[in-house]
Amino acid sequence: MIQLRDVVVEYPRPDGSRIRAVDGVTLDIREGELVGLIGPNGCGKSTLVRCFNALIRPTKGVVLVDGLDTRDPRCVLEIRRRVGMVFQNPDNQIVSTTVEREVAFGLENLGLAPREMRSRVEEVLERFRLREYRHHPPHLLSGGEKQRLAIASVVAMRPRYLIFDEPTSVLDPAGRAEVLALVQELAEEDPQRSIVFITQFPEEVESFPRLLVMRQGKVLLDGEPKGIFAQVDMLLRIGLEPPVEYLAESLWAKSPLAERERSEAEKGLGNDDQTEFGSIPSGERPKPIP
Ligand SMILES: Nc1ncnc2c1ncn2[C@@H]1O[C@H](COP(=O)(O)OP(=O)(O)O)[C@@H](O)[C@H]1O
Ligand SMILES: [Mg+2]
Repeated sequence: MIQLRDVVVEYPRPDGSRIRAVDGVTLDIREGELVGLIGPNGCGKSTLVRCFNALIRPTKGVVLVDGLDTRDPRCVLEIRRRVGMVFQNPDNQIVSTTVEREVAFGLENLGLAPREMRSRVEEVLERFRLREYRHHPPHLLSGGEKQRLAIASVVAMRPRYLIFDEPTSVLDPAGRAEVLALVQELAEEDPQRSIVFITQFPEEVESFPRLLVMRQGKVLLDGEPKGIFAQVDMLLRIGLEPPVEYLAESLWAKSPLAERERSEAEKGLGNDDQTEFGSIPSGERPKPIP
């Protein structure tokens, strides 16, 4: 479990003042959870998840990874082993001259026996369909393939927690779909692996069991996407666009037709499925085109 207690992160500004990027967050990421994290630009998402693997230490508060304190320098290596991160732009994450060496690179720091290392490299090249590219320079891969390689390199280290910081935001739709499918797969295949997935595209996390919404350094909402996305006006106010069907539902609810239905139902007329278009089965009401 990753536990955050009253976590505050401040960055110094050039003028000596400080900017509070994370403002008192208390949160648990439990074993096996798949958690989406959304929020407007600059609200502190990246800063928050960088606390998970001790890339950033909190200014105040505590972050524990399976009980290991990120402030304790003796724990940092073990924490980094447990918490793997995939970033937005694979070009900034990939450092090696071939696909195969890239996967091996992360493993070298784990102090594995050469045989174990080779077997893990083979395993992820196969699993992530990178075998045919093994001797290719990574920069020749497509955006989606590069992100697949970045994910493969992290998964090879077998972290218990996988953190994705907007891995889809620089990809084309095909690359996005591929990365998202991989994330879903990684969540399903190992019931102990926990995944936190940050995205600019709320529809990508619609099917996740848990969603966090951040705003101005705080976790504003934490729960099932259904209940969160239904708060359309509030989300729009903070600059987030819920998936289209929630927008449509919200527009419908405000339409004169829906208003008439409600008032007729209140008057007890009973036949609230009768409209001038005839009878519409409940649950299949027309939704306006947004
Ligand atoms: N290294 C840094 N130095 C100073 N300010 C930073 C640094 N990184 C982020 N910030 C500021 O902290 C706030 C949160 O940033 P960030 O965590 O990157 O948000 P998000 O990932 O949600 O876009 C922003 O106001 C950003 O400008
Ligand atoms: Mg960010």
